[in-house]
Amino acid sequence: MTADLTRLALCNSNEVTEDEPKRCERNGATYAVFVVEGDYFVLDDTCSHGPGSLSGGYVLGCEVECPFHQGRFDIRTGQPTSPPCTEPVRTWTAHVVDGHIEIDPNEMDCSARARETED
Ligand code: FES
Repeated sequence: MTADLTRLALCNSNEVTEDEPKRCERNGATYAVFVVEGDYFVLDDTCSHGPGSLSGGYVLGCEVECPFHQGRFDIRTGQPTSPPCTEPVRTWTAHVVDGHIEIDPNEMDCSARARETED
């Protein structure tokens, strides 16, 4: 198999559990990797409301609660689900390749796409 050079490897899939997301720093950016019912999701690790680290948050099913002010986001979409969070967090499509979680760092922001569709 030829490696996709546009992809960025974040971690091994076995480093992530439903209860313990994985914080990954790559090229100056910080990502939070989650697994929900066997599917992997990658979000910006920094909360859209402030400095909270979502990988250090409390996972409740398909939501993560920010440890800073307890706002919540849907892990699958990055959309806020509970105040004080009102803005989505950036998401990337998680690709599982040979046991590694990879993203395309240049992928368009899915939450931005959703906002454009609403306008
Ligand atoms: S920093 Fe996350 S809820 Fe305020």
